[in-house]
Amino acid sequence: MTLSNVLLRAPTAEEFPAMWRSLIDAFGEPLHESDQDLEQRAFEPDRSLIAVDGEDVVATAGILSRELTVPGAIMAMAGVTLVSVAPTHRRRGLLTTMMTRQLTELHEQGGESVATLWASEAPIYQRFGYGNAAPRAVLTGATRETAFRPEVDLGTGRVRRLSEDTVRPHARAVYEELRPSAVGWLDRSDIWWTRRHYDPDHQREGHTELRFAVHEERDGQVTGWASYRIKGDFGPTGPNGLMAILDVSATTPPAYAALWRFLLDHDLVRRFRRRMCSTDEALQHLVQNPRAVQTELSDALWVRLVDVDRALAARRYSTELDVVLDVEDDRCPWNAGRWRLSAGPDGAECVSTTAPADLRLTSTELGAGYLGGASLTALARAGRVSELTTGSLQRTATAFGWHTAPWCPEVF
Ligand SMILES: CC(C)(COP(=O)(O)OP(=O)(O)OC[C@H]1O[C@@H](n2cnc3c(N)ncnc32)[C@H](O)[C@@H]1OP(=O)(O)O)[C@@H](O)C(=O)NCCC(=O)NCCS
Repeated sequence: MTLSNVLLRAPTAEEFPAMWRSLIDAFGEPLHESDQDLEQRAFEPDRSLIAVDGEDVVATAGILSRELTVPGAIMAMAGVTLVSVAPTHRRRGLLTTMMTRQLTELHEQGGESVATLWASEAPIYQRFGYGNAAPRAVLTGATRETAFRPEVDLGTGRVRRLSEDTVRPHARAVYEELRPSAVGWLDRSDIWWTRRHYDPDHQREGHTELRFAVHEERDGQVTGWASYRIKGDFGPTGPNGLMAILDVSATTPPAYAALWRFLLDHDLVRRFRRRMCSTDEALQHLVQNPRAVQTELSDALWVRLVDVDRALAARRYSTELDVVLDVEDDRCPWNAGRWRLSAGPDGAECVSTTAPADLRLTSTELGAGYLGGASLTALARAGRVSELTTGSLQRTATAFGWHTAPWCPEVF
């Protein structure tokens, strides 16, 4: 089969159901109308693509206009989503065509300088210049092993259960207070809060409904919130329930500690799991026995610098830096060449230059290091960054690093 019959174009708003069906089919998942309704609320038709073969939608891709917290700033990002190619049309270059079209249009239209995505399968996107920028930690453990260090301050507040309606303004206030410095977090409008708390039966897998709790100070001020589900279980030795945690966020250390204690001390619960959190989640420093918190890493947010100069100028850097980067970029040739990055804690400038280069790398490595997650020295040890001027690697890696690990709490 050739692709000569296939037309790639933007869908209309009315074509969303056909687009969604095609995507769900490619993912091998059952169709639920409520999922479709929810997705449609965030759908941006004029930023999406469908490939049509006769009557059939055979490939899909979309962009969401969101904000991303990066080191020292909040910037606009293009959130790539809804990516699929029908099983009848796979491995003929449709994904490649859509990815290239998206990046080219973002560049030509002066759109977001950074594109991001979550990958269904991790090997797919590096070829398009996306770097593994903000991995997630999966935390698990036995709740009864999680005694805190004796010095831990649990404060004088209280934990209170709330409904979805009543928790949302409080959760939102805490989220917004933390967001400016939480590298990897996204803006969260009503649509995205609804999605965060979307809780249909078909997603529960035997767990309870999504539950909510806040941490409240004596004066009534809310300083943290948690959301979680429980899965009851009994084994030969007795209760063996699972505490499955979605959110634990707080603006003070005692509120954070108190919320964790609330979650871990549930009766009949013996195990906990948090599937998506920061690799430097503070829980591991609260417990007396660090082995009580098992950590697994997985890729999560992938970052692509659409325009190297604009993207590198949009974030801040840990230390003063003046470096010339020789960037290779076959997919986005406008990025290829030498760039002088003059940067520091107060801002950055990145301009094209003919000066000799200090470091050579591709835009994929710049994407991986953009949020301060992947270190450029580790990438160099993997042969992915070449140091051309002695000392430049250490200086650049230090400036790109950041004081907090990036992580993205939500899949889009
Ligand atoms: C993943 C998917 C979008 C790929 O689409 P496609 O049109 O077959 O991709 P292309 O033909 O453009 O392939 C481009 C390259 O990526 C590679 N590739 C594609 N899918 C891959 C996968 N799942 N794992 C590893 N490599 C993959 C191809 O082998 C090809 O490599 P090459 O350039 O070295 O030849 C499609 O198979 C699909 O829809 N899968 C199910 C849903 C899904 O996973 N969507 C992605 C959501 S993030």
